[in-house]
Amino acid sequence: MNQLYADMLEQIEQEISEINLPAGPSNLYDPVTYIMGLGGKRVRPILTLLGCRLFSGTHHQAISQALAIEVFHNFTLVHDDVMDSADMRRGLPTVHKKWSHNIALLSGDAMLVLAYQLLLDKNHADLHKISTVFSKVAMDVCEGQQLDMDYAEKEDVSMADYLEMIRKKTAVLLSGSLQIGAIVGGGRNLEPLATFAESVGLAFQVKDDLLDAFGSDEFGKAKGGDIIEGKRTWLTIKSYELANDATKKELDNAYGLQDENERVQSVLAIYQGLGIESLAEAEVVKYSRAASRSLSEIDGDSRTKETMTWLVDQLVGRTT
Ligand code: IPE
Ligand code: IPE
Ligand code: MG
Ligand code: MG
Ligand code: MG
Repeated sequence: MNQLYADMLEQIEQEISEINLPAGPSNLYDPVTYIMGLGGKRVRPILTLLGCRLFSGTHHQAISQALAIEVFHNFTLVHDDVMDSADMRRGLPTVHKKWSHNIALLSGDAMLVLAYQLLLDKNHADLHKISTVFSKVAMDVCEGQQLDMDYAEKEDVSMADYLEMIRKKTAVLLSGSLQIGAIVGGGRNLEPLATFAESVGLAFQVKDDLLDAFGSDEFGKAKGGDIIEGKRTWLTIKSYELANDATKKELDNAYGLQDENERVQSVLAIYQGLGIESLAEAEVVKYSRAASRSLSEIDGDSRTKETMTWLVDQLVGRTT
């Protein structure tokens, strides 16, 4: 483990455990404590701390914004699991499964408010700029999530459509995390950071699609959830791109199977026949290389940049 990363992670976990929530109603706040305590990689708040350290040589002043981003991310997961009918998150029942849909909706709303409270907690000269970036990101995530839902029902979704959808639902938050940290740290030229983090985000979501289909139990989500929900993922789009007419028919039939387990197994078998798993791995590496190239063009603290390089490698090889 990279030492700087380990120190940042420890601080984030500590701060999360100290988030002060009102005593009740417990059905509003218990799910917040539950989802925030379930673990997770904490990639986004780490990016915020790294963004700050790049320009100021210290990360401590961005901790409140880092927490805000992690709370926001967890809010998106609570609502995403309702939208995706997902029963498992980080190896345990999702909030709507453990409590109810209504509780997941309202606790999620409360988390969005909490995220803004944390974001604006510490008095900072650039708070207006910080909240503008944050709000833009939050709206992009909503747009990406709606496209994700729309595309599950749409006939023809191209690779370009898919990439724009994952840019919004996933990459912009990683980018915003890094940029907000950089603003706190006094960074001025944010464009190269955005370019770097968006490539990381594309790699991140293609890897997520890959793990959803081919990951182990360690991944912590129900295997094949995207196939069951008919989601457009990198794997679906690529398989239809590569399939001949006969294989396209097989894919249509496999996706149409009533039994969910049979559906997942049949679709996975076709993916395997087309070599989709290794193609997706190569795509993840492609985006991570693009990220590394962008990183080399960023001016900033060299130890922080080394940790960013290390982090990109970790995300490419991740299993959770
Ligand atoms: C899951 O995010 C949602 C996606 C954008 C794919 P993470 O994979 O970062 O989830 P945690 O926070 O580590 O559980
Ligand atoms: C993640 O997409 C996007 C957001 C949560 C905003 P997914 O639906 O693929 O995320 P997981 O796989 O459930 O974590
Ligand atoms: Mg989901
Ligand atoms: Mg989703
Ligand atoms: Mg997913």
